[in-house]
Amino acid sequence: MKVLIVGSGGREHAIATSVAKSEKVSQIYCAPGNGGISQIAECVPIGAMEFEKLVDFAKEKTIDLVIVGMDDPLVGGLVDQMEEAGIRTFGPRKNAAILEGSKAFSKDLMKKYNIPTAAYENFDDADAAIEYIKKGKFPIVLKADGLALGKGVLICNTLEEALDGVKSIMLDKQFGAAGSRMVVEEFMTGREVSVLSFVDGKTIKTMTSAQDHKRAKDGDQGLNTGGMGTFSPSPFYTEEVDDFCKKYVYQATVDAMRQEGREFKGIIFFGLMLTPNGPRVLEYNARFGDPEAQVVLPRMKNDIIEVMEACIDGTLDQIELDFEDNAAVCVVLASDGYPLAYEKGKLITGLDAFEGKDGYYCFHAGTKVTQEGIVTNGGRVLGITAKGNNLKEARANAYEATKWVNFDNKYMRNDIGKAIDEA
Ligand code: AMP
Ligand code: GLY
Repeated sequence: MKVLIVGSGGREHAIATSVAKSEKVSQIYCAPGNGGISQIAECVPIGAMEFEKLVDFAKEKTIDLVIVGMDDPLVGGLVDQMEEAGIRTFGPRKNAAILEGSKAFSKDLMKKYNIPTAAYENFDDADAAIEYIKKGKFPIVLKADGLALGKGVLICNTLEEALDGVKSIMLDKQFGAAGSRMVVEEFMTGREVSVLSFVDGKTIKTMTSAQDHKRAKDGDQGLNTGGMGTFSPSPFYTEEVDDFCKKYVYQATVDAMRQEGREFKGIIFFGLMLTPNGPRVLEYNARFGDPEAQVVLPRMKNDIIEVMEACIDGTLDQIELDFEDNAAVCVVLASDGYPLAYEKGKLITGLDAFEGKDGYYCFHAGTKVTQEGIVTNGGRVLGITAKGNNLKEARANAYEATKWVNFDNKYMRNDIGKAIDEA
């Protein structure tokens, strides 16, 4: 089977690594890919939003399965265009990817179908939003409706901050068109957990849990990033939480989408907050998390292609997902300065150290191949994942492995998985 993966981050490297393990697969292509992916796939210089070129490429190479890793092409309708051209594709169609593409849509869906989430109101108009906020409690949360690289969420402690927030989202359009609508939401407290799932339109099968670390600095300080590290499973994702979510969240979401005529096939990522009043949905994503995929997929025993095909064919009820009874931790090595300004083009040394080391992975995010070798090419550069018999062991292994690779301005958080000690 020939597979084309669309995307270029650590998540896509993790997906490609799982795909490469499948005996069904003879050739992997990735568009556009990165320096690490190019070691297991043929990378083609087509951007994830160049739909026509992607479709033409898939036709020319007679690709058997396209896997769309990233949110932008999903929300933009790449799956629809591939399917129209007769190419089997894993991921939600445009009318279902709206679950991630519009926060206002997802909030209305949850309200309509009684799926537990924070109280909220949607606004198209800044003045109306301001009137509502003036009557609200603080902190209060403002969210740009559309995709904003994970940055369109503002937590405002005072009325003044909230007024500034409305201005930057709706009037100054700091997040572009994503800010034409805005959700104003109740602030919740608790631990966050990510649960990824495979969905075939009717059936949902959840994967093992994970936890991300979104802030740039130790102790959850600094700016929000794409994610600085993850661990899996989350010890806070108890059986009780799982039972609650099975009853009120997972199947309810899949059924709600079907009811709305927006059958969802692909990955639903549930961002949950475990509040004192029980689990609440913070957000939905329509794809694997990055860097959640880097700790969840290495622990999955199933052939990923079989599971993805079952999602497309509507036969997921016949699949049992199976995860290793161990743990994994991923520490992101970033370029100092991320998520603001940082340098690129720094030579990365030590990558060979991962060869033949079972249970250790060096997932590339922002890297590229040059004549001098593999160099840094983004804010998040590598995701160093290690497994262990338990979370503590996995964390020790991952931090040990972060020492194997080096590049100028290498930066990481030193407290990924620290919460494990409190479990
Ligand atoms: P989102 O993109 O909706 O997941 O929001 C990004 C981050 O903002 C989340 O991971 C939370 O840390 C935080 N956040 C979002 N919504 C809320 C909320 N209602 N209460 C507290 N924190 C929130
Ligand atoms: N790690 C969070 C995300 O992928 O959105």
